[in-house]
Amino acid sequence: MTKPKFIIALDQGTTSCRAIVFDHEGVIIRTAQREFTQYFPESGWVEHDAEEIWSVQLDVLQQAAQGIPPDEIAAIGITNQRETAVIWDRETGRPLHRAIVWQCRRTSELCRTLKERGLEPMFQDKTGLLLDPYFSGTKLKWVLDTHPDIREKAERGEALFGTIDSWLIWRLTEGRRHTTDVSNASRTLLFNIHSLEWDEDILRELDIPRGMLPEVLPSSGLFGETDVIGPRRPITIAGVAGDQQAALFGQGCFREGLAKSTYGTGCFILKNTGDKPVRSRNGLLTTIAWQIGDQVHYALEGSVFIAGAVVQWLRDGLGLIGSASETEALALSVPDTEGVYFVPAFAGLGTPYWQPEARGMIAGLTRSTGKAHLVRAALEAVAYQTRDVLEVMRQEAGVELSELRVDGGAVKNAFLMQFQADLLGVPVVRPRVTETTALGAAMLAGLAVGFWSGLEEIERLKGFDQTFVPERDEAYRENKYSGWKRTLAYQLRS
Ligand code: G3P
Repeated sequence: MTKPKFIIALDQGTTSCRAIVFDHEGVIIRTAQREFTQYFPESGWVEHDAEEIWSVQLDVLQQAAQGIPPDEIAAIGITNQRETAVIWDRETGRPLHRAIVWQCRRTSELCRTLKERGLEPMFQDKTGLLLDPYFSGTKLKWVLDTHPDIREKAERGEALFGTIDSWLIWRLTEGRRHTTDVSNASRTLLFNIHSLEWDEDILRELDIPRGMLPEVLPSSGLFGETDVIGPRRPITIAGVAGDQQAALFGQGCFREGLAKSTYGTGCFILKNTGDKPVRSRNGLLTTIAWQIGDQVHYALEGSVFIAGAVVQWLRDGLGLIGSASETEALALSVPDTEGVYFVPAFAGLGTPYWQPEARGMIAGLTRSTGKAHLVRAALEAVAYQTRDVLEVMRQEAGVELSELRVDGGAVKNAFLMQFQADLLGVPVVRPRVTETTALGAAMLAGLAVGFWSGLEEIERLKGFDQTFVPERDEAYRENKYSGWKRTLAYQLRS
């Protein structure tokens, strides 16, 4: 029998589906990627078609696996945009509603009501999260309350809920498995991160039938088997984690105190806090990083909703650029933004502000403002928001950051990375494999099937590519950052 040579990671992100084949050294052998449709039916609402996500994900998986004999594939790992709520029919396997995306703000009012009733501390104690429309629980409640037919089905056990991982596992296993992992469950606002169970009090409060929810498993282990690659050789789905937790794992942040920032659609900064859930007083989230065997790791998280999405908006919304890759040269074509600041609060503001109703703003425009200044200001905004989160982490931990490990699509942008280092005053370290989200899912799957023997072996896989060392002085840093804070304060008041 052939010794498996590869692991395939499925990375189902907010704007695209990817399938990446890794070899035993953690080297990318092949990647297939496709974007899918974003729906914005009302201001502040964001939806996806789960059926389209499935067919695009299947297509890229089959493209990536083409020509590889199924017995050379050790396992599949899944990582996904988190919080996005999918509801589907148990019988037909078809979605009953468009998926409500993590960015969608439609439950702002509902969250405000729950807050006014003084329920936020209870939710924070049990789930580590805050009452913000970001999380799945209120999205699911909204669908059930708005569509009585779906609620009836749910009560009869005919409608199922899941985050995107559950949905993909359901389709990959042709409806045999309805499961998720602890890291994804910990983003739903329904999961007790201490007892590791769906929380009965919360389900009662939000009026959510328990029978709709998936079985919750450790992040590394057997989730099901799929034969979509080769019917005679089913492949095990052996690792699942939310994309930000997978990136923390893929960056090798296995120990308490290690942190990373992923620049994707949004920007998410996570710090491993070991086996203890640490409660934040300043707007960080407490979340489950992963579970391997009985060992649960927790993390503190700062969530920035719009990062790469601002570049996508410059491309698709304004038609200002043809592709994201143009932004680096454009930003570098001007010495600065000439005082332009861009607050990309398209989906409200996350950590540390938690303002679901905030909206975007561009300030400081003059007659000499050009395309390059706007592009530069958009990229700088990503770095400012990251600093906002790191400031809170620093205050709470009382420890200075010595370096920032980064990953995600936007870290290819050397202007952004250099500006981030200049703004933080610490080195920004970019890994050899910038697809650490996918690598993390591959590692979790590979550990479960013995493709890698343990953490020591996978630690050897990572290698660093480039370090961006700060080139500007403190005066520059503080001057730029205080301009951002002033613009933001104005935006928050308005
Ligand atoms: O919590 C949302 C996050 O999982 C989205 O990730 O990579 O699609 O920006 P990404």
